[in-house]
Formats: sequence, C-alpha cells, structure tokens
Amino acid sequence: RSFTTSVSHAKEIKNITVFGAGLMGAGIAQVLAHKGKYNVTLSDVTDKALSNGQTIISKSLSRIARKSMADSGAEEQEAFVKSIVDSIKVTTDPVEAVEQTDLVIEAIIENVAIKKDLFGFLDTKAPDHAIFASNTSSLSITDVAEATKRKDRFGGFHAFNPVPQMKLVEVIRTNDTSDETFDSLYEVAKRMGKTPVACVDSPGFIVNRLLVPYMFEAIRLVERGEASIQDVDTAMKLGAGYPMGPFELADLVGLDTLSHIAKGWRETRVKTGEISAEAVKESSLLEERVKEGRLGKKSGAKGGFYEYPAGK
Ligand code: 3HC
Repeated sequence: RSFTTSVSHAKEIKNITVFGAGLMGAGIAQVLAHKGKYNVTLSDVTDKALSNGQTIISKSLSRIARKSMADSGAEEQEAFVKSIVDSIKVTTDPVEAVEQTDLVIEAIIENVAIKKDLFGFLDTKAPDHAIFASNTSSLSITDVAEATKRKDRFGGFHAFNPVPQMKLVEVIRTNDTSDETFDSLYEVAKRMGKTPVACVDSPGFIVNRLLVPYMFEAIRLVERGEASIQDVDTAMKLGAGYPMGPFELADLVGLDTLSHIAKGWRETRVKTGEISAEAVKESSLLEERVKEGRLGKKSGAKGGFYEYPAGK
C-alpha cells in the first residue's frame, strides 16, 4: 500500500491561519513563522487567549535565542524574539482571519461538535482553494470534515508537544483527501523543519494509538502496587531509552487530556471494536488527580504525578 505520492502535487501555500492559541496552536504558529517563513495569523476567541499564546511563543523563542544566539547580546536576542512574535498577526475575528488564507490549521478544544461548528462556519468564509486541517490527536478527521463542503481539501496535521522541539508531524488522509491536499500538508510540515509521516484516518493515528494505551498500562501497573511511579519512569528511561518515563510524559501531555482522549475512545472506538476496552479502561488514580486539579506540568506546584515548583 502506498501512503504518499511519488510526484508531489503540492500547491503553493503562503498564508496560514492557526485557530487556537493554546500550547499546540501557539507552538505551530511559532514554527510556521520562524522556520517556515509563512505569513501566519493566529486566531482565538478572546484577546486574553491570544496574549497568552504570544507569551508561550515569546518564552519558547527566548529559549531558542539563548542557545542559538549565545554570542549575541540580550538586546539582539530580544529583537529576534520580537520580530517573530510581531510577524504573527493576531485576531479574534474568524472572518478576518481566513479572508486571504491558503491553509487553516485548527488546534482548538478536543470536542468534535465545537470543531465542526468552527469548520462549518469557516467553510463559508474562507477562499474556495483554502485547505483545512485539524490538529486533533484522537478524533476522526472524517467526522470533523463532514461539516464542510471541501472534504477533498481536508486532512489532519498532527504536531507534538513541545512543538518547537518535537520533529514529527503526522499527516492524515481520509478517503476523500485529495493528493494535492495531502502533498501540500506534507510540504508545509517539511518547510517547518519537521519530518512528516503519513497515516490514514484511524484512532490516535500512529503515535497516540501506541502512547495512550502505554501510559494507561503504566498507571495500572502502579495501581496494582507492582512498582512506584518513580521506578516505572526510571525503568523506561534507562531500560528502553525513552527520553521521558510514562508518568513524566502523562504530566507533559496533561492528565485531563489523557483522561479526555480515553473517555472519548471508550464512547466511540471501543464500541466499534477499533480499540480494546482493556487498553483505555477508566483509571481511578488518573481520575482522582484530574478531579483534584492536578493536571500535570501545566498545574505548576500542584503538579500531576509529579510536582513542578515555580520555575522548574
Ligand atoms: N521551545 C523551544 N525549545 C524547547 C522547548 C520549547 N517549548 N522545550 C524544550 N526545548 C529544547 C530545549 O531548549 C533543549 O534544546 P537544546 O537541545 O538545543 O539544548 C531541548 O529542547 C531539550 O530540552 P531540555 O534540555 O530542557 O530537556 P530534555 O532533554 O529532557 O528534553 C523533551 C525535553 C524534548 C520534552 C524530551 O524530554 C522529550 O522528547 N520528551 C518526550 C516528549 C513526547 O513524547 N512528546 C509527545 C507527547 S504526545 C503528544 O504531544 C500528542 C498529543 O496529541 C497528546
């Protein structure tokens, strides 16, 4: 089976709109502007969300500047950060955001109805030629594309956390995705300096299909009292060469996100037999932490499986 085309049918993309200024959306916008040199517009529903996105981008670029411009002064580093942040247009008006767009990448809340609402609306506002892509990690691209009349110009573009650092983008095609759309998304990923991989529209695609059941199995192992959280993480880092253990990874992904993905799969993919019930069985350890608001790294001192005192 051939997943990619031998001759690229990619079309030229200049203007890209990212919806959702959270960790993923901000990261994607940053790399599109910095590495891809695209004209980027970042859109979200409130000014607060947009300024939060700009803060995420500034912090990440400052980190990059400290390393890659170590010989330059602080002023030069700041000027570099500012030039990229300023180059990303921000707007809360979705119509303005897509007026001249060639590609929309959506990274909003992981809820199929809300994503469909957004794409259904954008379908009537964006230029006809524009490609739509979702950064969903666990929903069906086919279901989301259903809200539009451009199913041939619709695909998945799944980046990984932290986006500036992780080298992979999964490019997802549905039965309706055209070669032109698929190849264009593939080229955008390459121009961002990422390595794209192709996958058909299937639960969790490649990475999450493997990582989510793996993290759940690690949690169950601890629930059964077989080993400690720290020792499971040490074991997977030193015994399997993973950069992070499953609990550190769960804290990075967010325990709420992990719980949400598993719940969604239990309600859909387990019923269709695509995912086994055992793989994503509800975990009391995980649910307790989510209820307590211990969502992982993003919860700072409260933490998730670990605590993250300020600045760490
Ligand atoms: N922005 C810019 N640079 C960043 C960054 C960010 N947000 N985060 C990390 N970096 C850079 C650091 O500056 C450093 O750069 P250098 O190599 O030039 O020195 C490099 O990344 C390594 O960072 P650190 O030294 O701080 O720490 P580590 O060596 O432990 O690496 C890590 C951190 C890259 C996060 C690494 O631990 C890792 O690869 N972990 C696994 C992450 C993973 O599996 N992510 C996928 C999660 S699943 C997902 O996202 C799917 C979703 O849909 C649920």
